[in-house]
Amino acid sequence: METLKTQLPINKVNISFRNEMSNKIPSSTYGGFGIYKYPAKFIPHIVAYVLDKYSKKGMTVLDPFAGYGTVGSVSRIYGVNYELWDLNPLLSVIHNTYIKKSTPITARRIFENICHSRNEHNFVPQWDKLYYWFQEEFVSLLSSVWGYVHRMDSTKQHIVQIPLIKLTRYFSNSDEKVHKLYISKNSKIKIRNLKNTNWKNLFFSMLEREIFILQNRLKENQNLRPVEVKYKIKSGCDVLGLSPDNDVDILITSPPYLQAQEYIRSTKLELFWLGFDNNYIKELSQKEIPYRNSPDVSISSDLFFFYRSLINEKHLMKIYDNYFNSVIKILSDISVRVNKYMFIFVGPAKIREMKIPIDEIIAEHFVNSGWKHRLTYIDKIVSRSLFKSKKNPASGLKDERMEHEYLLVLER
Ligand SMILES: C[S@@+](CC[C@H](N)C(=O)[O-])C[C@H]1O[C@@H](n2cnc3c(N)ncnc32)[C@H](O)[C@@H]1O
Repeated sequence: METLKTQLPINKVNISFRNEMSNKIPSSTYGGFGIYKYPAKFIPHIVAYVLDKYSKKGMTVLDPFAGYGTVGSVSRIYGVNYELWDLNPLLSVIHNTYIKKSTPITARRIFENICHSRNEHNFVPQWDKLYYWFQEEFVSLLSSVWGYVHRMDSTKQHIVQIPLIKLTRYFSNSDEKVHKLYISKNSKIKIRNLKNTNWKNLFFSMLEREIFILQNRLKENQNLRPVEVKYKIKSGCDVLGLSPDNDVDILITSPPYLQAQEYIRSTKLELFWLGFDNNYIKELSQKEIPYRNSPDVSISSDLFFFYRSLINEKHLMKIYDNYFNSVIKILSDISVRVNKYMFIFVGPAKIREMKIPIDEIIAEHFVNSGWKHRLTYIDKIVSRSLFKSKKNPASGLKDERMEHEYLLVLER
């Protein structure tokens, strides 16, 4: 296999962000960092490391592919202002839950209210696949509970939304252990067993337990001593073509992977129940990188063209082009408003058997655009929640698990 090395003098440093920052954040799912399993989310230690070494109180950071919102959550620990963007509307739901203090309302009280209000104002998602993914009897229970939650006071809603999202997935025909919406042998057994139990009682006792766990996690957040800072969230937005309203000091982000799963498609069950409609969800899906068509962009990297020339299949070249054109365009547009540093976190990916050095291609492009490439940290993946699928949905080829991830440090 031909390869080309970048001409850049790349300084690569091995690191374990987790070990370096374990004194600050005990584990990657500590407190609010573990309230929801968002695919491929940052471990908080990466963001903590960056803010610890490179930020000062009062600075502003931006994450344009914020996903779970980890950059915002860690910024609070460091007294740094932040802005979070993402195509997936779940960003607001998760982050707005994270930042709430534990509500004084008890899980038992919420549970009783839900029981009493049942059948009053049901909410049924307008989704043509609803009965493919749910048993009819479960839909009627979920509709009454979601109906109640949609009408709840927004100050209390956050304590029920995520527990209910999790339970909705559990009571669906899909395998809730897999990110992708998928009916497995195990999920068929789960449904059969559920139907043979007192599933209504089980549902409410599970909901009560989930609310209790969430409340404890939010309490645990306080041990990290977060402070009030200024922040902005733009969720459900296509980042292509978006620029920050004001300058920011630092960008920290992890763009979608070249061999990514479809975030919108794999969270659409949750989005329907949260009240988003079919057209909107469809529109979001069509904007997702690397599946969307991208504008042509001038990419200043010999490595980019070298690897492109080795791709023979048209559909793989399209994914390659879509991916780099979109990611480079987005980061370049934003970079003009970044005053100090850009930290870009990427994993190596393969097209067929060929390794694509995404980190080096991005570094080359930005160095040729006037940024200084200070170094690249290399971290071993321990248990980052990646997509588990045998085939990469983008290429239809066997999924290659990556072992290392790369954090590029670019300085203005
Ligand atoms: C690797 S994930 C980021 C995970 C994030 N660092 C975290 O801690 O959860 C990439 C994100 O890019 C988002 N994305 C994909 N296409 C997008 C687009 N066109 N505009 C905005 N966000 C997009 C996905 O929704 C996903 O959340």
